[in-house]
Amino acid sequence: MSSLLIKNGRVVTADSDAVCDVLIDGETIVAIGRNLPVQADRVIDATGKLVLPGGIDPHVHLDMPFMGTFSSDTHETGTRAALHGGTTTVIDFVLQKQGHSLREALTEWQGRATGTAVGDYSFHMAVTDFNEHSQAEIADMVAEGITSFKAFMAYKGALMIDDAQMVGLMQEVKKHGALVTVHATNGDMIDTLVAQHRSQGKLSPLYHYLSQPEVTEAEASGRFTDIANYTGVNAYIVHLTCEGALNQVREATRRNQRVFVETCIQYLLLDASLYQEEFEGAKWVMSPPLREKKDQETLWAGINQGLVQVVGTDHCPFMWEQKQLGRHDFSKIPNGHPAIEHRMELLFSEGVSKGRISLQKFVEVTATNAAKIFGMFPRKGTISIGADADLVILDPNRKHSISADTHHMNVDYSAYEGWELTGKIETVLLRGQVAVHDGQALVGKGYGQFIKRGVTVF
Ligand code: URP
Ligand code: ZN
Ligand code: ZN
Ligand code: ZN
Repeated sequence: MSSLLIKNGRVVTADSDAVCDVLIDGETIVAIGRNLPVQADRVIDATGKLVLPGGIDPHVHLDMPFMGTFSSDTHETGTRAALHGGTTTVIDFVLQKQGHSLREALTEWQGRATGTAVGDYSFHMAVTDFNEHSQAEIADMVAEGITSFKAFMAYKGALMIDDAQMVGLMQEVKKHGALVTVHATNGDMIDTLVAQHRSQGKLSPLYHYLSQPEVTEAEASGRFTDIANYTGVNAYIVHLTCEGALNQVREATRRNQRVFVETCIQYLLLDASLYQEEFEGAKWVMSPPLREKKDQETLWAGINQGLVQVVGTDHCPFMWEQKQLGRHDFSKIPNGHPAIEHRMELLFSEGVSKGRISLQKFVEVTATNAAKIFGMFPRKGTISIGADADLVILDPNRKHSISADTHHMNVDYSAYEGWELTGKIETVLLRGQVAVHDGQALVGKGYGQFIKRGVTVF
């Protein structure tokens, strides 16, 4: 096994911050300290740089069949792009097909990811058809390290489950100490508004936004939280976007309930003014849609208040050509946007550099909290002896800009084209290997491992 010494970096975790050295042997961190008196096979000088835990993005959709097409990043291209941006582990969603088993879906996803991922990955299981058969499969999934189960309260006829199924799913998942995650929007109400807009000939991307008003998310978030409180299951709301939804979670804390909340980078940084009658807005057609400035302020505050624990991406890219499926009807635009590569640098620049969040908070919401919630801590999500050597070396002062011409995601536009950022990720290590250095990927297809997860420790 070869050893690697990272010298003199400012090593930051969720609860520590010191200039010191990190010694890696093989895949693992074996020593941390000031001026470590050791010889290593290789030395990286990190003077003046930040050394941070490799990022965990717990919300990505790679090579996913959706709305008549597939998301355009494969497990290979998506995890490689993630590594370029300092995200060393992703959790991808397996989607059960209604009328079929969880096992069939898992086999299908394993077929696409095994031997192709460049970065480490795990799976959530989306239970889209909860019945006595899928109920019986939950225990097997947990045994295989898939300890989070996603429910959709929208996308009726494809992914949505009803409240009766939700109760049953939560009760079963609770038996195994696992976690229920949710896409919390009111599917019936959205479908009604979509139908009304279409019948009125209102077909541009703007009406995607107007078909999913804040109340559709607030209502479903409250309903989910109430049912979770009744069943006592560990609960997590994915891609929460707005004040109304976060207030439901805030309210739940008043009865001593804890619900984990993830927002995504786009909801902190982009707003609904991007939706216009022009088709350009299709770049940001996602569900839930972008919201208002006041919601961005709520989310930043929610992070600092500890109500929002995770910033993910909901990375679900489609080529511009694929977005054309909805050129004449917003309801046919494949939902999702590309962000897997830039989550960490965007949040560092807009959050840490601009003084909205501390460096410790940055580490928490990009890595540590997800590792704890999703059962990977302390192997992942921190810098400690015995942990996987998943590390990011970031120059906090270096400026750079985002463009589709230079990004590594398999998508031909950027949702952040031309954004100027402060803070550049220069080197990324995954399990002790230099995975990216100065813009070059140095590990190949198949290096990424499936990470078997345990239950929430938070
Ligand atoms: O627009 C989105 N979010 N696409 C991916 C599927 C989902 O709802 O997360
Ligand atoms: Zn089947
Ligand atoms: Zn969703
Ligand atoms: Zn998603």
